[in-house]
Amino acid sequence: MNYQITKITEHHIDGYAQAFDSVARELRYLAYFEGLSRETTVEYVRQNIAENWPHFVALVGEKVIGWCDISSLDRPVFEHAGGLSLGIIHEYRGKGVGKKLLTAALQAAKERGLSRVELTVRERNPVAINLYERAGFVKEGLHIKAVKINGQYENHFSMALFIPENE
Ligand SMILES: CC(C)(COP(=O)(O)OP(=O)(O)OC[C@H]1O[C@@H](n2cnc3c(N)ncnc32)[C@H](O)[C@@H]1OP(=O)(O)O)[C@@H](O)C(=O)NCCC(=O)NCCS
Repeated sequence: MNYQITKITEHHIDGYAQAFDSVARELRYLAYFEGLSRETTVEYVRQNIAENWPHFVALVGEKVIGWCDISSLDRPVFEHAGGLSLGIIHEYRGKGVGKKLLTAALQAAKERGLSRVELTVRERNPVAINLYERAGFVKEGLHIKAVKINGQYENHFSMALFIPENE
């Protein structure tokens, strides 16, 4: 499959929003029922671009098929840290795109000088948990009954990657 990993631009906002929405609506992976409003998404992407937070998309032609971003935790005391989000549209999974996006975002996090990257991941998502562990993330804790979807509770792990300051 021919695809390209690139930094997000304003041009990719609608494609990114659609990709996020489609993964959210699967209900199995994210802690969302659906994507965010266009207004919120525009604001989010613009902040990432303006403040140079790592935010990458994978493209097949013009189509956004996945994303990985590490964004602000929006408090001065958390300036050394970022929150990671990653997803690939269903039909493009298992082809190496997620790993490539994660690698690009973590490299940009190092270049930015972040020392902590954190995320939450649903307990029944072994593919993502393995991918994060192989990238150096460790489990920090289990959030019991963290999400409730269609009446079913699911736990999620918090995970973090610690980047040495001289890397
Ligand atoms: C998790 C996810 C981002 C991984 O991206 P991907 O493009 O499918 O994964 P890749 O093809 O890059 O594979 C990454 C690794 O996972 C393994 N893998 C991929 N799909 C797998 C599967 N279905 N079963 C077992 N292993 C799998 C690959 O072999 C690879 O292992 P390696 O590092 O030893 O080579 C993607 O599957 C996804 O978007 N899932 C739904 C959304 C989600 O879970 N997001 C994370 C929320 S925290």
